[in-house]
This record gives sequence, structure tokens and C-alpha cells, in this order.
Amino acid sequence: MALLHDHLPGLTLEHLPLGSTPTPVRRLEADLVPGVEVWLKDESRFGDGGWGGNKVRKLEWIIPEAHRRGVRTLFTVGGIGTHWGLAAALYGREHGLRTLLGLVDQPIDDHVREQLARLQASGAELHRYRDQRRLKLAAPWLVARTTLRDRRMPWYLPAGGSNPFGATAYVDAALEIAGQVRAGLLPEPASVVTAVGSGGTAAGLALGLRLAGLRTRVFGVVVNDSFPLDAPVIVGLANRTADLLRERGASIDLGPLESVNVTMRTDWLGQTYGDPTPASMEAVAAAERDQLLLEPVYTGKSLAAMRDVGGRSEMPEPILWLNTHGPR
Ligand SMILES: Cc1ncc(COP(=O)(O)O)c(C=O)c1O
Repeated sequence: MALLHDHLPGLTLEHLPLGSTPTPVRRLEADLVPGVEVWLKDESRFGDGGWGGNKVRKLEWIIPEAHRRGVRTLFTVGGIGTHWGLAAALYGREHGLRTLLGLVDQPIDDHVREQLARLQASGAELHRYRDQRRLKLAAPWLVARTTLRDRRMPWYLPAGGSNPFGATAYVDAALEIAGQVRAGLLPEPASVVTAVGSGGTAAGLALGLRLAGLRTRVFGVVVNDSFPLDAPVIVGLANRTADLLRERGASIDLGPLESVNVTMRTDWLGQTYGDPTPASMEAVAAAERDQLLLEPVYTGKSLAAMRDVGGRSEMPEPILWLNTHGPR
């Protein structure tokens, strides 16, 4: 049983535990964001096999739903360094599902090169395209081929696994945070900061923090320019997630979330998704000096954002920062 089942009696959505909870929280070293009270929730530890981080939490809800639907193949998309695609491939395989991946080129650095090698070894079926337009054109053919083979349609999951099932994971994680606050392990955060690549993490947190009765605001550091990830988009996904939970038996006595409940900022994105900006590289290097392993595409940018505006009115302290990277 997930925390969500305790909090929302009647919820029939199935949950497959893939990691140990709660993920630890601790005060961040003072030199990383000088003069600002920042707490770290270490999501990098989540995931008992293969690959860790925030994507694995999403699969805890997606894999059981795939089985419930009788799906044989998950079809999803991402950049050639997609963490999400790799997690889907590894955990899907462990739980009897094939993964079909449509990959789009992105700026290549050592981390992306490593990721691509892992994807190639993951057992997923990979199809690589120069841009999103070409992937979109090829998608019907990929779906038709897979349907013929499986005698069943693959289940299409958007980039990052950010549908309402994936976002449910971070509703659950928000309840976990509330439990850690109640247990005195950290103060009630004024802001929770996360990198935003496809929105499921931020949307789930926004809904979960409200369900948990915390006043914490979500500050999303948007790192992807391939599709809109502004506050209305995030809040829209949070509201669709609440609808899913209601459809599956939960009684949720909340009005719809409004865009004013979350802040989404693109200031640290750089030129495009995957652009390793100087601020992000500097943040990764600073973290490394404190034995904290980040990467420049997501977590480096979220640390860079805190170094710039942490403690100001748009990102009040105490801050809880999610380290969503899952190196294995
Ligand atoms: C390391 C890391 N952090 C953060 C994110 C962003 O999460 P979301 O896609 O839910 O916005 C991702 C997404 O893949 C990720 O790989």
C-alpha cells in the first residue's frame, strides 16, 4: 500500500513498490546556496534495481495500470539521453513489458553518450530521429507494427511518463514529505524546487502538497523547450490527476488548483533542452566538491536557480530541493 491509499480510502489504483521510502531528507551544505536554508530530498536513492530517480516512482503506478489494461508494450518518447526511457525499459522488462522508444537527437555530451549506450543495452526497441517532426510522422507506423506483433495496441506514454498515472507518483511523494515534516525531520518548506522536463513531478507535487495540507509552493525550473510547461499546463495536469484519483474511487474534497499555486520559470534553460549552460556546469562542479552527483541537463539547472533566486520572494525559504537524478 502506498501512502496515497491511507490518505484516500477507497482509491483502487494499483501500486507496485519499486523503491524504498521515505527517501532521506537532510540540510544541504551551506556553501552550495550561501545564506539560504535549503533542505535536500534525495530522490536519487529511489529505485531498487537498474536505474533510479523520479522516473521510477512514476513507473510504480504506470506498470500496474499497463498490466490492468493487458498491454504488452509501452511506447514512449524522449531525447537520446532520456532517463525516463531508460527507466521504462529496465523496469518494464523486469515486469514483463516491452518498451518501444522514439528518440530525438539532443546536444551530445559525455552523460548523454553514456545514457545512449545504456539505452542500447536495455533491451528496448530504439528508433532514432533528427527532430520531433520526423518522430511524429513515423509514430503511426511504429504503433501499427507493434500492434501487429503483439495483437494489441502499445500504451502510449508521453515524454517523461507525465500522464496522470505518472503524476500520481508525486502526489504520493508529497504525502511522504508531509510525514517527514510531521516527524520533525525538516521544517515545513515555503518552497519545493524541482527541475521540470515534462511536468509530472511538479504537477503531482502541487496536488499532493494541497492534499497534505501544507502551504508549500512549487517552484519549477523548466529545462525543456520542446513543449509548453508553464503554470497553466502544470496545473492542468494536476487537475487531471485529481480527476483520475476520483474516477478510481478517491473522495477528494478540493476545488481545482489555479495557476497562481505554482511558479514555472525558464530562466535557466539556456538555448534549448540539454544545453549545458555555464551556470548549470558550475552548479554541477560545486555539488561534486560536496560529494553530490548531479548532471547539467536537469539537476544542475535547478541548483543554479536556487543559487540565483533562493530566499527571494519568488522562492522563499526554507526550501526543499528534490535531487531527481538517479545515477546507477
Ligand atoms: C534527472 C531528472 N530530473 C528531473 C526530471 C523532470 O521531471 P518531469 O519530467 O516529471 O518534469 C527528469 C525527467 O526526466 C529527470 O530525468
